[in-house]
Amino acid sequence: MTNKIIIKNKITKFKKKIEVSGDKSLSIRWVLFSSLASGVSKAKNLLMSEDVLAAIEIIKKLGIKVKIRNKICEIYGKGINGYVFRKNLKLNAKNSGTLGRLLLGLLIDSPYPIKIIGDKSLSQRDFKRVSDPLSNFGANFKLSKKKYLPLTIMGSKKLNPINYFEKKGSAQCKSAVIFGGLKTNGTTTIKAKKSRNHTELLCKYLNLPLTVINKKKYDLIKVNKMKKINRLNYNIPSDISSSAFFLVLTALNSNCELLIKNVNVNPSRIGVITILKKMGVKIQFKNQKIYKGEKIADIKIVSPKFLKPINCPPSLNTEAIDEFLLIFLVAAKANGISYFKDLAELNHKESPRLKWGEKILNKIGIKTITTDNSIKIFGNPNINLKNKIIIKNYLKDHRVFMTSIIAALSFGGEWSIHDKDSINTSFPNFLKIINNLRKNA
Ligand code: S3P
Repeated sequence: MTNKIIIKNKITKFKKKIEVSGDKSLSIRWVLFSSLASGVSKAKNLLMSEDVLAAIEIIKKLGIKVKIRNKICEIYGKGINGYVFRKNLKLNAKNSGTLGRLLLGLLIDSPYPIKIIGDKSLSQRDFKRVSDPLSNFGANFKLSKKKYLPLTIMGSKKLNPINYFEKKGSAQCKSAVIFGGLKTNGTTTIKAKKSRNHTELLCKYLNLPLTVINKKKYDLIKVNKMKKINRLNYNIPSDISSSAFFLVLTALNSNCELLIKNVNVNPSRIGVITILKKMGVKIQFKNQKIYKGEKIADIKIVSPKFLKPINCPPSLNTEAIDEFLLIFLVAAKANGISYFKDLAELNHKESPRLKWGEKILNKIGIKTITTDNSIKIFGNPNINLKNKIIIKNYLKDHRVFMTSIIAALSFGGEWSIHDKDSINTSFPNFLKIINNLRKNA
């Protein structure tokens, strides 16, 4: 079976109501917290993608029973000390940075060395950023070339609390240290640049010993050793990052309208919406509610008449970090020059995404000026491609694949986009929703 997609036609106008799959960040965190809970936790709408299934495989290897039936996932937690550690344990985080990094915080007290491996993309990502702070608790790490997977974690029973300053805006680093703090006597203090706060909200909902003081630019987090995690039933809301593909498809086309149901619009995740609004797109939240600390809403979006360029405030970078490839497409169609800076973190994702953003734009004839951490995009409101475009060898970065599909459906030309199976890491039914939008107006 061919593993590439050919797109030769632009999408025609649509007016639809859709639902995308469960939030990936929350799904992985739910699996990890539930694996340490006392009793059976159940989740509905858990994202059934490779990243989340990798988390499930890992907790199973640590001796936790998991059942999936009738679209409900049940995790049979055995308490905070319930993992079964064996000698020569090897755990595979596959493509998931979130899983690989958060896991290290959870394994900080393992009595035996544990080897962590990942796929080709994950094996090129920096793990020193988490092993450094976790070493300060008293665990030891052996990393490949001092920075990468495969790594071996050697836990310790004599952990000391730490003071940690998280400066990158990385929720993965922050969360790994929170997990470490939850396993350590004494108070661990984290000063963290603002980033997605699902771990903190889950701790709060579960009454775990964690407090957060929100300062203007930083959060001050204090964590103490946990005694027990109650079982956690969760109805996972839809993922804003998966919704973003359809928001941008609507923004790049004319006369389209979309309602995306039940999305997690946690304020630390909605940078893409703030940016699209600044560029002239009308977006509204409907039926807003709070669920277990998370803000949920239906998102309504209407195609704009024209798109304004943006000088993007770097204060929005962390909130929009997974959506920049898409945002660059919007800038490509804007009427003027857009500028994005302080984006070095983008090159630390599943592929070097700032580079891939530039490559895709250049392939569609858009001029860019790029540095290691910034991109200037010379927009053209009248892009109408006739040429052939091939997208391949992008380390199977799911977001490169899906962004290319959105570009193909919006800008014309004949696209050949390789490695279709890359969507399985985060959004297996992406193409099904695309086909539904393509079917009729
Ligand atoms: C995530 C945090 C972000 C994000 C990733 C998911 C999380 O990574 O890019 O897709 O769930 O904590 P960083 O922490 O590296 O910024």
